[in-house]
Amino acid sequence: MDDMSRNPSSQGTAKEGAGVFKEQDEEARFIWNLRPRTLDEYIGQREVVESLVIALTAARNRGEPIDHILFHGPPGLGKTTLAHIIAGEMQSRIIHTAGPALEKPVDIVGILSNLDTGEVLFIDEIHRLSRTIEEYLYSAMEDFEVNFIYGKGAFARTLPYQLKHFTLVGATTRAGLLTPPLRDRFGMIYHLDYYAPEELARVVKRSARILGVHLDEEGSMEIARRSRGTPRIANRLLRRVRDYAEVTADGKITQALADEALTREGVDRAGLDRLDRLYLTTILENYRGGPVGVEALAATLNEETNTLVDVVEPFLLKMGFVIRTPAGRRVGEPARAHLGYAAEGGGQQRLL
Ligand code: ADE
Repeated sequence: MDDMSRNPSSQGTAKEGAGVFKEQDEEARFIWNLRPRTLDEYIGQREVVESLVIALTAARNRGEPIDHILFHGPPGLGKTTLAHIIAGEMQSRIIHTAGPALEKPVDIVGILSNLDTGEVLFIDEIHRLSRTIEEYLYSAMEDFEVNFIYGKGAFARTLPYQLKHFTLVGATTRAGLLTPPLRDRFGMIYHLDYYAPEELARVVKRSARILGVHLDEEGSMEIARRSRGTPRIANRLLRRVRDYAEVTADGKITQALADEALTREGVDRAGLDRLDRLYLTTILENYRGGPVGVEALAATLNEETNTLVDVVEPFLLKMGFVIRTPAGRRVGEPARAHLGYAAEGGGQQRLL
């Protein structure tokens, strides 16, 4: 799940980003306000950005709406930001909703029938749409038409309703859960990958500039290395380190200060937080290093399975800290070394 709370469906131009927050969530607002508004300002995901520049330029030159776009990848990498940038670049309104918020046919038909030509419908967590809603989207995406069904059983009739040529932008952390008919209706499908530390350092330097925070080169790299490859986390950590710098020092962020602040926050040198470490030590201590099924692990940790699969595991998998096997999850050698456990075969005892 995306960790910014949002209205089930909010509207606004990409410029405003208005109405996006369910409540006054300080941190979410802070991060939202730092987001890039144009592709020029956007750091990282070079191939995705280059491809989008071509598609947007071609669509604008032809005076046509841009094709439907699907973004998939772990949370916090910029799927929502890109959807808003696309609307901004097309100077269009964006309607922002999420899969679980669309319960009844009237929810989706109401939104679709109010879209004007070129407007963007952004559906976050699109893998969580119900089957019925998904079926409405098939004809809407392909033929810009929805079929109202009225009456029941043998007397049921369908009434086609013509829609304007809108653009659907979908986002998901789980592309594998999308049904092939839905996936096939997107003209462009992009995977967002974790950012390199150098890219994240540029992200935090940009944010620090906007906020007027003094951050030196090494300080930005320290925050970047500890941000799990994720800009949203980088900006969140910047906020924590800024607080620490203002209260305990002169407000200037150096490497030593960032290190101290982040260690206090429970974010270690590899960027793992308490839940990451608990996840790994639970497999090591309770399940002899694995394999263990994710449901059993979630029950032991008292966490939702989806949180583990969508939020915790992707980065640990990327780092080789955890390995997925048909029999379940196993702790990888790099995690043992990082946490100070003996190599596999040498028992589970902690070395440090
Ligand atoms: N803030 C968050 N993500 C960003 C990105 N990809 N580029 C620039 N600033 C960002």
